[in-house]
Amino acid sequence: MAKLTVRDLDVRGKRVFVRVDYNVPMEERDGKMVINDETRIKETLPTLKLLIEKGAKIILAAHLGRPKGKREASLSLRPVAFKLHELLGQPVEFADDAIGEHAEKVVASLKDGQVALLENVRYYNEEEANDPAFAEKLVKLADVYVNDAFGAAHRAHASTEGIARVITKRGGKAAAGLLMERELKFLGDELENPARPFVVILGGAKVSDKIKVIDRLLEKADTILIGGAMAYTFKLAHGVKTGKSLIEPDHKGTALAAEEKAKKLKVNFQLPTDTIIATPVDSGKLNKKGKPVYDLTNIRTVSGDIPDDAEGFSVGPETAANYAEIISSAKTILWNGPMGMFEDERFAAGTNAVAQAVVEATQKNGAKSIIGGGDSVKALNKIGLGNKVTFMSTGGGASLEFLEGAVLPGVAALSEK
Ligand code: 3PG
Repeated sequence: MAKLTVRDLDVRGKRVFVRVDYNVPMEERDGKMVINDETRIKETLPTLKLLIEKGAKIILAAHLGRPKGKREASLSLRPVAFKLHELLGQPVEFADDAIGEHAEKVVASLKDGQVALLENVRYYNEEEANDPAFAEKLVKLADVYVNDAFGAAHRAHASTEGIARVITKRGGKAAAGLLMERELKFLGDELENPARPFVVILGGAKVSDKIKVIDRLLEKADTILIGGAMAYTFKLAHGVKTGKSLIEPDHKGTALAAEEKAKKLKVNFQLPTDTIIATPVDSGKLNKKGKPVYDLTNIRTVSGDIPDDAEGFSVGPETAANYAEIISSAKTILWNGPMGMFEDERFAAGTNAVAQAVVEATQKNGAKSIIGGGDSVKALNKIGLGNKVTFMSTGGGASLEFLEGAVLPGVAALSEK
């Protein structure tokens, strides 16, 4: 990587502004906000420990949710400061504002090796607007900038992009953190010249969300395995009936063009050969959002048309076995998107079989397995296999955009080595 990293910095006694992605899932329990998954916090520890060792004064900034410029109490980062204290094994000061007098006071009180976390930067509209004056106010707190927030690097916001430009313009350094470096290595460099066979597994709801990734990976992969609801649009394009399944009729052409390109490039492009379907029946109840709740009845497997009253929810057992077989001989694996509605046990078998196959290829054949963030990470963690793959991205939208080949603004703004 040609970008400067935190390893290259001499930061003793300097105030280092570190943008992290602490946008973690939380829920309210007994009137308190509780963190459900601390992975994103844990993954920043190597960068923080290195900066502590180097004697920096560390100022952490992050966003939580989308408060749209309002101080929404449920989106405060205070619970994250407590969790970080616990994980880091040293106190973490909390400034209940991202800019201004209070933030400046907390930062001024830091001694070398100490850490402070600023309140949610998205309590200010100027953050998402990438307002230069707001970036200047953030810069006031620091001498050096480190971006370890890969998950937010696709956003050109004040704390992810604007601040890096301001700090470098005035002669300061803007470097990548260790997590950022790892993400760019595994989702980028490692896939440039992959060990072969290179098998790509793509799932998720929509062809339109994944088509740019499919298009780019067709140029690199030996095999592409398609699953999830997006498979139904491919099926529709082939004249197969898809019942009530989630489809994008406007993207039939996109799907066929991808298959055509695969043929031309001699990529083994596979669609599911069977599907687990169910018949949704209105339960008469409404969910929290006021939408009707459907009971999924008569769960069964079909290999051809999906009946008019039924909907597809996962790849079937034949597809899962075939995909597992192909994955078992892979040397590089990239997986993005589940094979079906894995959150519901009745439809999780296909995704679980793929997860198991990816883990076995990694553990037994030494395949390099890279999990492109979001739901596939959740699916692996759900069955306790998260630590058995080579790399799991902390990004959602950022991983997808990066895999599409986009230049992420948060990365582009960093100093060159
Ligand atoms: C994420 O969770 O994907 C990142 O933190 C970005 O959040 P955003 O989509 O609200 O910008």
